[in-house]
Amino acid sequence: MSSREFAAALPEAEGLLCQLTDPIGEELLARAPRLRAISVCAVGYENVDLTATARRGIYVSHTPGVLTEATADHTWALLLAAARRIVEGDTVCRRGRFPGFDLGYLLGSQVSGAILGIVGMGRIGRAVARRAAGFGMTVLCHTRGKARSVREVPMAALLKRSDFVTLHVPGGPATRHLIGRREISMMKRSAILINTSRGSVVDQGALMTALATRRIAAAALDVFEGEPEVPRSLTRLPNVVMTPHVASATIATRRAMAALAARNILAMLLGRPSDATLVKPTL
Ligand code: GLV
Repeated sequence: MSSREFAAALPEAEGLLCQLTDPIGEELLARAPRLRAISVCAVGYENVDLTATARRGIYVSHTPGVLTEATADHTWALLLAAARRIVEGDTVCRRGRFPGFDLGYLLGSQVSGAILGIVGMGRIGRAVARRAAGFGMTVLCHTRGKARSVREVPMAALLKRSDFVTLHVPGGPATRHLIGRREISMMKRSAILINTSRGSVVDQGALMTALATRRIAAAALDVFEGEPEVPRSLTRLPNVVMTPHVASATIATRRAMAALAARNILAMLLGRPSDATLVKPTL
C-alpha cells in the first residue's frame, strides 16, 4: 500500500500485517482505534512498542521457526566468505588482476577445526551449531538456554577463545552494543565477527576502528546500525563482507514467512492465536 492508502485504511483496520521496518508505536496505534491484531512478517519484532499494544489489548505475532535454516545457511555463507576472502578474490578475477598462482597469495583463515563462538543459542544459534559439526569445529556458546554438545562459557571466555564469533540474539535495548570496543578488545587478532542478528547489537563505530586497525581480522555483516544506510568508511574496508539484510531471503523461506504471517493474523482475529507465534505482552 502507498502511505496515503495505508493512512486512509488505518481508522477501520482490525488487523495489520507489517514488516520489521514498520515502526508500530503510540502514534500509529492512536490512528487505528479498531486494531486487534498485528502480525509481523519477521522473527524479530523490536519495531513494535509492546507496552502500547498490551495497554490496548492488541495481539502481536511473529514468524519464528520458518526462517531458522535459511538464516543459519546465510550465516555460514558469510563466515566462509570472510574466512576465505571470497569477495576479494572475486573482485581480483573480475578486474583482470589475477596475478597467477602463488603460495603466499590471498591467504585466509582455516575454518575446519577452528573454534566457533555462538552468542545467543535460540533456534538460529542452534542451527548454526549443527552446521559447525560438519566442519569439525569446537563450538562454544554464551546463552541462557541449553544446547546439546555445545560448551556454555562466560562471554569473556567465548570472546577470548573463539576464532569466529557469530551473533544470534534479538534486537532491542537489552542487546544494544552487546559487542562494543571492550568486547572487541578481548577477541583474538585473527578473529572474525559475523552478525546476522540486528545492527544495533554491535557498536558499528568501534567495529570499523577495529577492522581498520586490524584489531580483529575481518567481519561479515548482514545487518547495520542505522540501515539501510551503510557508512562509506565501512564500504572502503577490504576486510568486511556485507549483504543487505537478506539472511532469510530464499524464495521458499519468504513464502513460508508470508503464509505464517497470514495464518497468524487470521487466528488472532478469530480469537485463537497460536502460542508458538504469539509475542508475550509487556506491561
Ligand atoms: C529478519 O531479520 C527477521 O527478524 O525476520
